[in-house]
Amino acid sequence: MTDTQQHAPTTPTGPATNVGLPQERRLVTAIPGPASLERLERKKAYVADGVGTTLPVFVVAAGGGVLVDVDGNSLIDLGSGIAVTTVGNAAPAVVRNVTEQVQAFTHTCFMVTPYDGYVDVAQALAELTPGSHAKKSALFNSGAEAVENAVKIARVATGKDAVAVFDHAYHGRTNLTMAMTAKNMPYKHGFGPFAGEVYRAPMSYPFRDGLSGPEAAARAIDVIEKQVGATNLACVVIEPVQGEGGFVVPAPGFLPALSQWCTDNDVVLIADEIQSGFCRTGDWFASDHEGVVPDLVTTAKGIAGGLPLAAVTGRAELMDSVHGGGLGGTYGGNPLACAAALGAIEEMREHDLVGRARDLGALMTERLTALAAEHPVVADVRGRGAMMAIKLCEPGTTTPDAARTAAVAAHCHRNGVVVLTCGTWGNVFRFLPPLSIPDALLHEAFDVVAEAFAATAPDAEPVTPVAP
Ligand SMILES: Cc1ncc(COP(=O)(O)O)c(C=O)c1O
Repeated sequence: MTDTQQHAPTTPTGPATNVGLPQERRLVTAIPGPASLERLERKKAYVADGVGTTLPVFVVAAGGGVLVDVDGNSLIDLGSGIAVTTVGNAAPAVVRNVTEQVQAFTHTCFMVTPYDGYVDVAQALAELTPGSHAKKSALFNSGAEAVENAVKIARVATGKDAVAVFDHAYHGRTNLTMAMTAKNMPYKHGFGPFAGEVYRAPMSYPFRDGLSGPEAAARAIDVIEKQVGATNLACVVIEPVQGEGGFVVPAPGFLPALSQWCTDNDVVLIADEIQSGFCRTGDWFASDHEGVVPDLVTTAKGIAGGLPLAAVTGRAELMDSVHGGGLGGTYGGNPLACAAALGAIEEMREHDLVGRARDLGALMTERLTALAAEHPVVADVRGRGAMMAIKLCEPGTTTPDAARTAAVAAHCHRNGVVVLTCGTWGNVFRFLPPLSIPDALLHEAFDVVAEAFAATAPDAEPVTPVAP
């Protein structure tokens, strides 16, 4: 019997909790515990140092809202493996579909001999992504690969080269996507030279620029027109809610104005919904909130409940502008990943995870707003649905406080709550719980976050930890 099997399942209180793992925070050792520390030594010996780890607890089981480690600790998961396990870890329909698929066949290469799962995913993407026009998809393995291919398609379709991206953007770690990503350390440092013909425009960033959406769009369009020229521009690539850059939500009207300008200038609008898509923001896609219909949408992460799958979906005539054999890859749309995606989409539909993301968003907004009222270091509460963030700045200023952010994160980790940071200045907490987390567990996680702020305040009195 493993550590995780010794505990009787408890009844979850949330609507889509998926497995019999006790939905509880349980600390039986320090975090990380001795068994994890032992494994960390082995990791140091055999895994390249460049592959970092936020919290070195080695996981043996996960589901609902918890991760269980080799020491028998049960941690609350507020990260979903960076926005991937939206439907929960090992979600039942994902497990069922993958189990059936792995017994049937594991690979043929869709480009050699096809199978239904790939086409089923493409059909689901046509139905779910914004807009009612005819759409087609091509499937890949990672988000970066999807972004690269979206740019390839836009270049062929328009016969133009240039790519416009935004301040604070994150699009991946391949050569082209490093060029498109804004932040140097750790993503780009020393890895150049980067792909050319990538230009950066100012993002709508209400906390910093105070501009309305249309004003910020006019500023971005002016930069693009003056520094690139619409006649050279193949595509504008934008995260409708920025991910790694700090969960920046553009001011209302920014995305529609940009979309209209792209339409008027024969420029392909690519929405990178890799982090914001698939129910995360309380709609199927973040573009839906303002009725924006991108020409191409890139998806990955939440699409397949933890298996590696990514897609480019878009206007059929754009997708079909690429010559036969021009898109693909050995593993793209692997049958196991497609089976997982169909299971994940089934979970999203059956458990109304769009609604669940909105409910969790309301709960998190309430907790984070209360936190901001109590701790002036919390300068901004932002996000959408179950993609929420707080930004830490020196009180009364816009000066980032990365040190306090790190101290709060360390306290949360020590006390069994997995939190992630992000942002250009490393001063943003992003909260991305699996949508299968029970409400009570999410509240407990935010009790620990609140305690972490109290414990790390400059004038902190010693605090008694929230009992797990
Ligand atoms: C918006 C966005 N685009 C692209 C990527 C790259 O995806 P992957 O890590 O699967 O290559 C990410 C990953 O965090 C992302 O958030």
